[in-house]
Amino acid sequence: MAWPLWLSSATFLMMLFTTDAITTALGPPPAVMYKNGIGLEQGGVLPGGVIYGRLLVSSNDPRVTNGVQGPVYRTVCDAHDFSNNEAETMCTLLGFGFGRKYYGSDATGRPGTTGRPVSHLICHNETSTHRRSLMGADDREGSSYSRQQGHSRTLTELSAYVNLPKSSGFVCTIDTVSTCPAIAPLAAVQCSNKPLPPEPSPPPSSPTAPPPKSSYLRMYGGNGYYDGTRLERNICNKTLNEDCRYWGRVEVQVAGAGGKPVWAPLCAPKSTLRMDIEQLVCLQMYDWDPVADRLRGVLSGYSSTPISIPSGKFVSKAGNFNPAQYTRWATVIGGNITTANKIQDLQLKVTAARCSTGAMLAVHCSMLVAD
Ligand SMILES: *[C@@H]1O[C@H](CO)[C@@H](O)[C@H](O)[C@H]1NC(C)=O
Ligand SMILES: *[C@@H]1O[C@H](CO)[C@@H](O)[C@H](O)[C@H]1NC(C)=O
Ligand SMILES: *[C@@H]1O[C@H](CO)[C@@H](O)[C@H](O)[C@H]1NC(C)=O
Repeated sequence: MAWPLWLSSATFLMMLFTTDAITTALGPPPAVMYKNGIGLEQGGVLPGGVIYGRLLVSSNDPRVTNGVQGPVYRTVCDAHDFSNNEAETMCTLLGFGFGRKYYGSDATGRPGTTGRPVSHLICHNETSTHRRSLMGADDREGSSYSRQQGHSRTLTELSAYVNLPKSSGFVCTIDTVSTCPAIAPLAAVQCSNKPLPPEPSPPPSSPTAPPPKSSYLRMYGGNGYYDGTRLERNICNKTLNEDCRYWGRVEVQVAGAGGKPVWAPLCAPKSTLRMDIEQLVCLQMYDWDPVADRLRGVLSGYSSTPISIPSGKFVSKAGNFNPAQYTRWATVIGGNITTANKIQDLQLKVTAARCSTGAMLAVHCSMLVAD
């Protein structure tokens, strides 16, 4: 009997010895493959030999392995933040030439999963020129768990490395803090060595799955060395006190022209509101539920000297913060912080004019963990 190469011998044995598997073997075969610290489970083969499956990423980080000798494989939350780009990278790591997201609930659903899914999978190509530049060489150590036992840890330190071989050319991190909303699907990919057929019309989005609160807010810098999310060079750079890298700026989704959603920088508010807002930003950013997540630690937000909105002819230079690219700016002017779940639940003043204070809110999130 010819088994596809990607069907591991472990699966083969499972299929021989578990009646459950024998019954399900009548349907699509359970595709299992592992390569470069990435895995696929709960999948199969689509027409044209396209392999699909629920994504697994491995890590040796004790916060992922729960202290067990690693690596341990975990599923990945897709709270509207797992993109086709990352799916393609995952397929590259699995040894395929092409790849994108897979939306079928047979792979994105939770049945048969164990452990908490990890969130915010971010990868960068280490050989590309767009490398993290502001952060020092000690960033990797900065994320090491052992140095941080028993203290308040910044969320930078709470992200963990995916266990990839150096030769893969990629560095990927996962966030071990965020809660994956129960309604969010898990990340799944489809991979092939031939170009994939055109994507069928927009995948149906489940009406029972409203986006998590984190999808209405984004943060640049302040919580990581991630290329894509660090502060722009004209806001935070080596000529300044490097402390600036610990403070992030925030954008909130608001209604723009014609009601179309746009991202608006969050302005520094009146000082009386600042503490409430910095806390809410962090709870929203990490989909934190203060009640359900209380056993995991205490997530706190802090703010600092607001970030001045840069001006001058260099704002349009690549890598710089350019105020002209924003049509809306948002300032919190009131609301009830006790009942608010997200910044948008507060009273927001949205203007086409830039922050009246000339500055944006600077936030840092951190978590106190009980050891
Ligand atoms: C990474 O980036 C470099 C330079 O941009 C490129 O030559 C290389 O093909 C990329 N590697 C992968 C695996 O995409
Ligand atoms: C560094 O940041 C400061 C403060 O925002 C800014 O004035 C300066 O132009 C920046 N330098 C570079 C090279 O972008
Ligand atoms: C905020 O909402 C809570 C709960 O509904 C209420 O008890 C409290 O009085 C409100 N606070 C303000 C300032 O309106």
